[in-house]
Amino acid sequence: MYEFLYTSQLGAQASPLVVGQILSRARPTNAQAGVSGLLIFDGQRFFQHLEGPRPTLEALMGRIVGDSRHEDMRILHEGLLPQRRYHRFDMGYAETDDLDALGALIQLSGPSAVERFLQMRTSFDIQA
Ligand SMILES: Cc1cc2nc3c(=O)[nH]c(=O)nc-3n(C[C@H](O)[C@H](O)[C@H](O)COP(=O)(O)O)c2cc1C
Repeated sequence: MYEFLYTSQLGAQASPLVVGQILSRARPTNAQAGVSGLLIFDGQRFFQHLEGPRPTLEALMGRIVGDSRHEDMRILHEGLLPQRRYHRFDMGYAETDDLDALGALIQLSGPSAVERFLQMRTSFDIQA
């Protein structure tokens, strides 16, 4: 198992409505590929935590990097993962307006970024 945590900015030409399109396509694809995770969106910026088999995730990240619906992508952490953290096999989604929390998260990298992201998760009303 492998994980990626990244942040990116909604594309200059993209509407926030693209999130619905992204999720409706990503969920069945991820479920089939054994990819799980969580996408957070504040209206401007994405944070996505992805986990799954390493070759699958690397291929997915290659597609996501090239997606013009977002830009300024920064990987906060990537690494081996002993066991899955998200047990829904697709892509959880939450919106937030807690810009302070996201602003703090974007300053972090490595395992501390993952820690902070996982702490934020508990403030959302979602089932991982
Ligand atoms: C912020 C963001 C998150 C995305 N997350 C996923 C995802 O979890 N799974 C997925 O299959 N595609 C995701 N996509 C879409 C991919 O970039 C890509 O459009 C999709 O995998 C289909 O690729 P294809 O058109 O080359 O087949 C995401 C796109 C963006 C902008």
